[in-house]
Amino acid sequence: MRNKISVVGAGNVGATAAQKLAERGLGDVVLVDIVEGIPQGKALDLLETGPIEHYDSRVIGAQDYAPTADSNIVVITAGLPRKPGMSRDDLLFKNYEIVKGVTEQVVKYSPHAILIVVSNPLDAMTQVALKVSRFPKNRVMGMAGVLDSARFRTFIAMEMQCSVENTHAFVLGGHGDTMVPLPRYSTVAGIPITELMPKETIDRIVQRTRDGGAEIVSLLKTGSAYYAPAASAVEMVEAILFDKKKILPIAAYLEGEYGVNGYYLGVPAKLGSKGVEDIVQIKLQPEEKAALEKSAASVKELVDKLSL
Ligand code: LAC
Repeated sequence: MRNKISVVGAGNVGATAAQKLAERGLGDVVLVDIVEGIPQGKALDLLETGPIEHYDSRVIGAQDYAPTADSNIVVITAGLPRKPGMSRDDLLFKNYEIVKGVTEQVVKYSPHAILIVVSNPLDAMTQVALKVSRFPKNRVMGMAGVLDSARFRTFIAMEMQCSVENTHAFVLGGHGDTMVPLPRYSTVAGIPITELMPKETIDRIVQRTRDGGAEIVSLLKTGSAYYAPAASAVEMVEAILFDKKKILPIAAYLEGEYGVNGYYLGVPAKLGSKGVEDIVQIKLQPEEKAALEKSAASVKELVDKLSL
């Protein structure tokens, strides 16, 4: 049996994710969007790429959710992107309606799927998907930490003038201005960057990581980043489908872990065929703990506005 992965939202993130899923042969792909013709057109274009890129994934596009039936994984990218000057939080109410509607449809056709939410504000939208789907928490997660860590790793590699493959980075917290990159656990060839770079350099790249999404929005002007966000979601899909037990930073629903109860927050978690199989807890230093608490408080503030 082939895997089926549905991607809701045929914008830049969704279409790029569909392309990567097909190219990696991860399964058949269904691309859904409310805009008539766009998902069908992009899906057909991707299907016709198969002979050149050597993939057999069936890629189809649809306005309705019937073709998504019995998906193993659904990636939700639907929602408005940011414009310059907007924070992710400014999207709260509009994207709430969109993610709610999408989740209702997804659940109707794929009651056993695992949901990966990409829409912003990420942590709050993932909570919307959890509440609306009534799925167990292991089957609803958000994509943010993989992206934020990839940005941090890029900047570390730029500073060290080394391969990005030598880098590892650790980012906790919400996907917003309060995210918590952890230099102590971020390494080059296994060596913490705190031993390799002066504090000023670390502070600078930590801030650039926090502003990573906004930096791209301000360059693109008409939307937000999509190559790295799509690649990040696909890495999560791959970890789940191959039951890799891969520990990745993701938005997971916390019930006491890291002192957070009843909210999503970015933490390292083990991804396998059951979805979020475990949350890895590490001891934080007082200032890291304080930064995480601040981040959790800002996620809570947003979620509470939605009175889910
Ligand atoms: C970013 C948006 C997608 O970080 O949240 O680029």
